[in-house]
Amino acid sequence: MSNYSIKNLEEYFQLYRKSVREPENFWEEIAEEHFFWRKRWTNVMQWDFSKPEVKWFEGAKLNITENCLDRHLPARGDKTAIIFEPNDPGEEAQHISYNELHARVCQFANVLKSQGVSKGDRVCIYLPMIPELAIAVLACARIGAIHSVVFAGFSSQALAARINDCDCKLVITADGSFRGAKTLNLKEIVDQGLESCKGVKTVLVVKRTGGEIRMKDGRDQWIEPLLDKASEDCKAEIMDAEDPLFILYTSGSTGKPKGMVHSSAGYMVFTAYTFKNIFRYRENDIYWCTADIGWITGHSYIVYGPLANGATTVIFEGVPTYPDYGRFWEVVAKHKVNQFYTAPTAIRALAKESLDFVDKYDLSSIKVLGTVGEPINEEAWHWYNNNIGKNNSPIVDTWWQTETGGIMISPIPYVTPTIPTYATLPYIGIQPALMDEKGKEIKGNQVEGRLCIKFPWPAMARTIWGDHQRYYDTYFSAFKNMYFTGDGAMRNAVGYYRITGRVDDVIIVSGHNLGTAPIEDAINEHQSVSESAIVGYPHDIKGNALYGFVILKHGGERRDRENLKKEINEQISEHIGPIAKLDKIQFVPGLPKTRSGKIMRRILRKIAAKDTSNLGDISTLLNPEVVEAIIKDAQ
Ligand code: WTA
Repeated sequence: MSNYSIKNLEEYFQLYRKSVREPENFWEEIAEEHFFWRKRWTNVMQWDFSKPEVKWFEGAKLNITENCLDRHLPARGDKTAIIFEPNDPGEEAQHISYNELHARVCQFANVLKSQGVSKGDRVCIYLPMIPELAIAVLACARIGAIHSVVFAGFSSQALAARINDCDCKLVITADGSFRGAKTLNLKEIVDQGLESCKGVKTVLVVKRTGGEIRMKDGRDQWIEPLLDKASEDCKAEIMDAEDPLFILYTSGSTGKPKGMVHSSAGYMVFTAYTFKNIFRYRENDIYWCTADIGWITGHSYIVYGPLANGATTVIFEGVPTYPDYGRFWEVVAKHKVNQFYTAPTAIRALAKESLDFVDKYDLSSIKVLGTVGEPINEEAWHWYNNNIGKNNSPIVDTWWQTETGGIMISPIPYVTPTIPTYATLPYIGIQPALMDEKGKEIKGNQVEGRLCIKFPWPAMARTIWGDHQRYYDTYFSAFKNMYFTGDGAMRNAVGYYRITGRVDDVIIVSGHNLGTAPIEDAINEHQSVSESAIVGYPHDIKGNALYGFVILKHGGERRDRENLKKEINEQISEHIGPIAKLDKIQFVPGLPKTRSGKIMRRILRKIAAKDTSNLGDISTLLNPEVVEAIIKDAQ
């Protein structure tokens, strides 16, 4: 039996039990079976959640790009590593072989070196979904620089905050990006952001749109001429198992984003092992994940997990609705995609349109469907199953987080029987627990509680960049010796998990995590606003939409309401990005607060959801009269 590939339910349970009883032996065998190590570890794992400190494969030396690239060259050099599908269906797709990818990563790495980047330096990558994004990520890993990819839909201010937080010295961007019918000037956003980033000495610019841009003398350079001159050989920097591989920011419940730090060895082993089984990848399959590499899903399951398995991974530049609602299915048919992984919000949006957009295309290549990022509702699950999977391809509803690095709870296709809306069983090595509000574990089945993980796994984030205390406070302080996920979950009669949603101040809109605090901070900076509170309410495509309750400053009431709403959303776009814009804004005389001054969001959530028949216990409210007034005016 190979531990690396799971064939049936019995084997799953057998491996699962082993992974819990003898975690060290179990993970050691996985690490031995499949990877290329420069030096073997001396210690499989070490952990203490009270600090928290977690180490995997300590003493080992490796470079993840040797595992994602060099290792495949003898047998798979001519195999396609990346299929690039451009935004415009009229532009030809590119097939990049492992040989070519290796050469291009080395060239890119040599350019970074020539610009003074070395091991441990932070490099910010702000690029559209073009091959250079994956290449830049791997080039950083090649030389041991820590990449910090910022999703290219974030505003200049959000970009600057992320650049400054981890002190990036170099930024990689493009002249622009194509998104459906729109062209965005990325370079201009970078220029604006860099006005407040003194540490950035160099900006490398990839040509994509050919749009007019400004190049700042002494700072900005086109990368193409540098790549042309660079050697196609670049020795991989040998890294320690626990050296940081990347930082990726995620929203938190305070204004500052959290820079989650991921390690080299554990992250590699876990993303590769989950990819192989959860997508049932077989040699010569074509795998497509529609996420952006700017999010964790793209890091783990477009770049590292697939490439560590020698897979062919699709990079799609466009959007699901351009040039029409059939684009995803056109691309599936064109490249004969075998595994397709997307977000429930995309499924819901496409399910609203005519089935003609689906039925035009031959989807018979599909073997596995996946979803990630938010709970999938039953209707969307059935639409996906009936029309895309033709009742013939298992759906893996994969639950995980930026912080977990890889998939934690998911069916294994053709192994775990699925039930709509259930992420089903923990992956091998993952030990979930449901906790009650008093901090006690809820044992048994048919129970609901707060989802925690009680034992470390190799890909868990090691810290928050520059703020280990916050790492402890956010994830390890609520429940003793447990990693707290921030999600609620239930466990059914057979032990399947169903994620019920966030229990903290993070709202998931169209699969994107948004913290309420940064949005409120952005609104409160508007000159007419004195205070605000944001809550989510159910939305049939986005999952959740944002509802803002805003108190105006004295005098602000005289301004035109519609203009004010527009300005508030512009303000949010500038601070965070268009993804955080509010769907509804209500101007209110006050906010419901407890005697200790905390906003009672529970009440606002009910008002936003138009569910005010029972507001629950409001005896601790300082100002019940405000609630009446808000309900009267609610939208
Ligand atoms: C939510 C994305 C239900 C959850 C990989 C989690 C999900 C947050 C699922 C992390 C799922 C992710 N079912 N909810 N299958 N997958 N979530 O960091 O609330 O962008 O905590 O990572 O998304 O979002 P993040």
